[in-house]
Amino acid sequence: MMLPLSLHGPLLGLLLTALPAFGHNAGRASAEIGTLAHPFDLSTVSLTNSRWMDNQGRTVNYLKWINVDRLLYNFRANHRLSTNGATPNGGWDAPNFPFRTHAQGHYLTAWAFCYASLRDTACRDRATYFVAELAKCQANNGAAGFGAGYLSGFPESEFAALEARTLNNGNVPYYAIHKTMAGLLDVWRHVGDTTARDVLLSLAGWVDSRTSRLSYSQMQAMLGTEFGGMNDVLADIHRQTGDKRWLTVAQRFDHASLFDPLAANRDQLNGMHANTQVPKWIGAALEYKATGTTRYRDIARNAWNMTVGAHSYAIGGNSQAEHFRPPNAIAQYLTKDTAEACNTYNMLRLTRELWTLDPSSTAYFDFYERALINHLLGQQNPADSHGHITYFTPLNPGGRRGVGPAWGGGTWSTDYDSFWCCQGTALETNTKLMDSIYFYDDSSLFVNLFTPSVLKWADRNITITQTTAFPMGDTTTLKVGGGGSSRPWDMFIRIPSWTTSGAEISINGAKAQDVRATPGSYATIKGRAWKAGDTVTVRLPMTLRTVPANDNPNVAAVAYGPVILSGDYGSASLSAMPALELSSVRRAGDGLAFTGTADGKSVKLGPFYDAHGVNYNVYWATKGKLPSA
Ligand SMILES: *[C@@H]1O[C@H](CO)[C@@H](O)[C@H](O)[C@H]1NC(C)=O
Ligand SMILES: *[C@@H]1O[C@H](CO)[C@@H](O)[C@H](O)[C@H]1NC(C)=O
Repeated sequence: MMLPLSLHGPLLGLLLTALPAFGHNAGRASAEIGTLAHPFDLSTVSLTNSRWMDNQGRTVNYLKWINVDRLLYNFRANHRLSTNGATPNGGWDAPNFPFRTHAQGHYLTAWAFCYASLRDTACRDRATYFVAELAKCQANNGAAGFGAGYLSGFPESEFAALEARTLNNGNVPYYAIHKTMAGLLDVWRHVGDTTARDVLLSLAGWVDSRTSRLSYSQMQAMLGTEFGGMNDVLADIHRQTGDKRWLTVAQRFDHASLFDPLAANRDQLNGMHANTQVPKWIGAALEYKATGTTRYRDIARNAWNMTVGAHSYAIGGNSQAEHFRPPNAIAQYLTKDTAEACNTYNMLRLTRELWTLDPSSTAYFDFYERALINHLLGQQNPADSHGHITYFTPLNPGGRRGVGPAWGGGTWSTDYDSFWCCQGTALETNTKLMDSIYFYDDSSLFVNLFTPSVLKWADRNITITQTTAFPMGDTTTLKVGGGGSSRPWDMFIRIPSWTTSGAEISINGAKAQDVRATPGSYATIKGRAWKAGDTVTVRLPMTLRTVPANDNPNVAAVAYGPVILSGDYGSASLSAMPALELSSVRRAGDGLAFTGTADGKSVKLGPFYDAHGVNYNVYWATKGKLPSA
């Protein structure tokens, strides 16, 4: 499944508020500028039985099964230590693959998330063992001929070639370094492992010394090679430590040729390798929070707005053959290699960073919900106990998950022979499905996603138990438990823009007349002195709607509430986009099963996230109008 190296380079190259002194962000040392709402620590939110929890379970199975020594092979070999007889991996971690060891950081992060949310000590022990072995690799740098702090599966000479602009083997060395750093930071943050901190800061110090020698123009030239989220992780180390040194190093990775047009709100994304850019925007959001420089905020917001508004498919994914296409070009690019999954993982990280700056806007979590349900949930193969994934999500007529262009991983990932970027980010996605359901500020709780879960809100001495079949059903209940405290607080509940004026909030069974539930706003239960047993019921009526392609109003996907529906074509292939009689679409029962008539034949429609093992159709040539009720 290796990408041909000739393709690889171009393809992958492919109001000031301080954090409250109490609370769940105790590990974060530096105050953030502009942040108005905060995530809860992963250890305080757990999923309960649901389609989401099933995804988590499959990924956790794999994380606890994979042989850790195999994952250490390239690090040990490169740092001249024994590989302990381990078998080398294949795919993008093969010993001759240019950016081998890019994947391991995702495993570190996912083990850390698994431990944080599930208190699973097997995940923790894998993370701490791995980090201890990385420390040994780093400690052998003198013998291996590397500079202090260096840590990777390929020689440091790759960086000399990168800086000299003579690197021509398809390597993207800082891309790999970024992943390792992000993984170490997560093990430090969520497991409390101080070896992870030491290895991380030593590697960050190596990045500082390597880049401090370069002139501004040398640095900018080097940034022409994909470098992941180096500005993101370094700004995050600053957030974690409060040490300004890391912010300075982060800002060296500000990529001017990308940032300048974005700061001016000019969409010049056409033709760019998409996942090369999105991590830099997350970095810009963090750099805004660290510096207050509004240019960074504008870059991140404008990039988000353009990507969501002009470059995203109905399922929330973006990119075709890994690249951005002209603004609003959607119907023209319905191919087998649409919607690279990493881009969506990164867009969701960007979305939550931006929402915390603007928590009265529902646009951010309307998008988060759309992309999580319709793209990432179904990216994982539910028939696979290790939760393997697809790299692209095909949107061609008669597309199918797990098949597609082999060069980009159109098949399902495998245990030891893939290690694609999208396999790594999916390990994270499926171990942090609880991280964006709830947020808080000094006087409020925000409910952003409708996912069965339990929140332990220590500052308020309460639990919130969310029970729902969403999106199979339209009702969610939020039950307050625990001792509580006498201080009143507000509950903000996202009322998605896809729902109707029939949306409503009830408290303890009675409709809350004074709480407005307007689509595209936050319903607010103000200043209530909550008692154990208080139950809020949220009803979000769903209707059929079309999601037209920006470039062709006669081409559209069909959705019911938040859920994109797809046609089930079994094993039949389609040579053209089927024409759907919109007026024929009918609900078949209580769930999300529908039927319709396309090309004169009856077709079953159901949630796209469940379209597995069949050829499906997402975008239709539409005729007529959907039934109104
Ligand atoms: C992007 O910004 C424009 C102008 O403010 C706005 O009309 C549009 O709805 C925004 N797009 C998204 C996806 O939020
Ligand atoms: C928190 O709630 C428990 C009951 O669940 C109660 O025993 C305890 O006194 C409460 N603590 C505070 C600080 O209110």
